[in-house]
Amino acid sequence: MVAFASVAQAGGGRSNLRDYAQKRNFLIGTCVDMRAFYKDAAYTAILAREFNALVAENAFKQKAVWTGPHTYNFKDTDALVDFAQKHKMKIRGHCLVWHHEVPQWLKEGHYSGKEVNDLLKDYITAFVSRYKGKVDQWDVVNEAIDDKTFGLRLDSFWFQKLGPEYLSLAFQWAHKADPKAKLYYNEYSAEDMGKKSETVYGLLADLMKNKIPVSGVGWQCHILEQGWRTSEDMTKNAKRLGKLGLEIMVTELDVSIKLPTTKEKLLEQAQCYRDMMDFCLKTPQVKGLLMWGFTDAHSWIPSFQPGKGDALIFDKDYQPKPAYQAMLEELAKGKNKK
Ligand code: G3I
Repeated sequence: MVAFASVAQAGGGRSNLRDYAQKRNFLIGTCVDMRAFYKDAAYTAILAREFNALVAENAFKQKAVWTGPHTYNFKDTDALVDFAQKHKMKIRGHCLVWHHEVPQWLKEGHYSGKEVNDLLKDYITAFVSRYKGKVDQWDVVNEAIDDKTFGLRLDSFWFQKLGPEYLSLAFQWAHKADPKAKLYYNEYSAEDMGKKSETVYGLLADLMKNKIPVSGVGWQCHILEQGWRTSEDMTKNAKRLGKLGLEIMVTELDVSIKLPTTKEKLLEQAQCYRDMMDFCLKTPQVKGLLMWGFTDAHSWIPSFQPGKGDALIFDKDYQPKPAYQAMLEELAKGKNKK
């Protein structure tokens, strides 16, 4: 086991996640908070140094981009795509269709199903073709499964307006706009072999059977319980998705700490990040790991999970935490990806 210090010093103190990930043909990334992106040079310096993949936390969502029936605001998406291109980073477009973040004008516009169909087709076509060859992969549909019924969310605006076909339509429109982009279905709490992952598997098997162009599944992996570890179930799930021809990305990893944070909790958190990184590197179907932020200064957790926080790998002052060192060490072990 290589000691953290020597790994950190291996590159003359310049070792970083990105260099090791590159050598292993593995994507390592984070979501981006656009306020920090525009205002904080230290933030963007770490982005470019440590990661080879990015996703916008909110800038690619419908409410941010889709300003009217056929009008779009691409200011932030252009800025992030330009940054990714400049720094030779892959970028994920999150997300084209979600039951959250539906623009108010669309929800309240009393549009018919046919009108919503045409509006969504125009949105996806305009958005995806704008970044043709630049956005590597899209979360085409996000979180379509109901946690209680384990069926499709019936309360989704998209289900109500377009019926269950909204998923296959969205994937087909995105594929037509950029045939080379990887098209993902993204979900939370569906990494194991439970009811929800069973539904995801069935949904994707149906789409694939009907020749709908789906490339992969995003496992969000918001870890809310201390002591969490990967499981044999995750390996089984990865294998069966792989058999469908799908790849997997960990898309939104964060490991919450029940406040107050202590040294012990930070070390436990580091073990969880280490375990996830180890799992990803040894599971051939998993092509990359993105975290939902990299610094505790910018995380959704404190406002959405009261009493929890410090979920990321750099602290509020952008200093690496034990979790960062643990991931670096796992990446530095050097066995090439299968
Ligand atoms: O931009 C507006 C601002 O103009 C307004 O003044 C302010 C107050 O209402 O709201 C701002 O928008 C907020 C947005 O984040 C940008 O900060 C939304 O209210 C708020 O709901 C939104 O929260 C985001 C949430 O998704 C919903 O979109 C979180 O930051 C983001 O971390 C979270 O990320 C999701 C993934 O997209 C999907 N998987 C789960 C993950 C965590 O919930």
